[in-house]
Amino acid sequence: CAAAALLVRHRMKSSGRWARSMAILKEFEEKCGTPTGKLRQVADAMTVEMHAGLASEGGSKLKMLISYVDNLPTGDENGLFYALDLGGTNFRVLRVQLGGKDKRVVSQEFDEVSIPPHLMTRTSDALFDFIAAALAKFVNTEAEGCRPPPGRQRELGFTFSFPVRQLSIASGTLIKWTKGFNIEDAVGEDVVGELTKAMEKIGLDMRVTALVNDTIGTLAGGRYYNQDVIAAVILGTGTNAAYIERAHAIPKWHGLLPKSGEMVINMEWGNFRSSHLPLTEYDQALDTESLNPGEQIFEKLISGMYLGDIVRRVLLKMAEEADFFGDTVPPKLRVPFVLRTPNMSAMHHDTSPDLKVVGSKLKDILEISNTSLKIRKTVVEICDIVATRGARLAAAGILGIIKKLGRDILRDAEKQRSVIALDGGLFEHYTKFSTCMESTLKELLGDEVAETIVIIHSNDGSGIGAALLAASHSQYLGVEEL
Ligand code: GLC
Repeated sequence: CAAAALLVRHRMKSSGRWARSMAILKEFEEKCGTPTGKLRQVADAMTVEMHAGLASEGGSKLKMLISYVDNLPTGDENGLFYALDLGGTNFRVLRVQLGGKDKRVVSQEFDEVSIPPHLMTRTSDALFDFIAAALAKFVNTEAEGCRPPPGRQRELGFTFSFPVRQLSIASGTLIKWTKGFNIEDAVGEDVVGELTKAMEKIGLDMRVTALVNDTIGTLAGGRYYNQDVIAAVILGTGTNAAYIERAHAIPKWHGLLPKSGEMVINMEWGNFRSSHLPLTEYDQALDTESLNPGEQIFEKLISGMYLGDIVRRVLLKMAEEADFFGDTVPPKLRVPFVLRTPNMSAMHHDTSPDLKVVGSKLKDILEISNTSLKIRKTVVEICDIVATRGARLAAAGILGIIKKLGRDILRDAEKQRSVIALDGGLFEHYTKFSTCMESTLKELLGDEVAETIVIIHSNDGSGIGAALLAASHSQYLGVEEL
């Protein structure tokens, strides 16, 4: 009889826990809601901020940075070029042999190096010395016949995926760090100068002829293969977009009118914010505790660096306030960023009937064993809420660009075709995220217009794109082939 009473008490306790957990979950889900109407408001706010950012320097949270790229690759680019792609936890070095219109990319080789985490927060010298050394090592692997002609300096397209105020196509000062980087003495410095100094120190004879953001590189890389590309979006560790603007529509541009009449703009949309964004207490806490509080709010809702941590925060609250995982709070749940987005994605895509992957991730990463199917299902639900919100907001951002360009209305259905080049690990590997993003965009555009807007995956376009821009800005352009 005592045992039965104990069992009843246990059942009541656990059903109380469950009810409290579900109440937390339900509230979270409601606050994350992104009905079409809200997404339209976000898109409109994006368009408004785009105008404001183009009107004057500092006119908006959207920096709308001028890239100095006023001509995109045509296919004619020729010669051997290097690219360096820095913007996440890895950087890549590339060597590309371009063969002009007919041959295009004749050959390419690359190497990927992971950046030791301590270098992401120390000094500018330490970071750039490390990068220059890796670049020199890569240059040394040049095979016979894959070298610049004698007397010619090697040229490099430098993809630096942080907000930079460009001074020219090949120079620019770092405005601030984003993602996990925070190296104070680099802010305000010309990043090309920093890299050049490090290369000179070790006797590497190479010149940066183009400094570009990864969005610009992706746009250039996409355009090389498809002339209908008008914008590029990165969904990776961070998120951002670039697009081709009419120079006339950039009041803050006081330079010469480019011959093409166009200028590529790096929006830095990660820093977008609006009262229409569905922010929750978890997002607010994540922001406050981040390396850059108050900054990159759109990015913190969408990108790979943060999604996993939002899930962790919701689980932590459920553990603390509703004993979701039992009487004690699993200590690992308190560790910031312990649950990374690739793991969240693996759990979200688990199709096994007993959610085996979810169970093993909870065990391996959060050290929570013996989870019930009910618990696992709830974890998947949280992943779904967080990923869906991010994907739908990304689609709203893209709609904002399409609207700014007036391509949300059909003018000449026959001719009008807008291609948007997408890249980044989140887009590439988190299938539920990218599928949701694309279907939301269709939903927002309506069937007819949706037919004219095409999303392509520009796989690794940013490296090639930087090499292409290095080629079109080569110091030897117009000089006879040696
Ligand atoms: C961050 C950077 C931005 C970059 C994006 C994607 O938002 O500020 O420059 O394009 O991440 O890598």
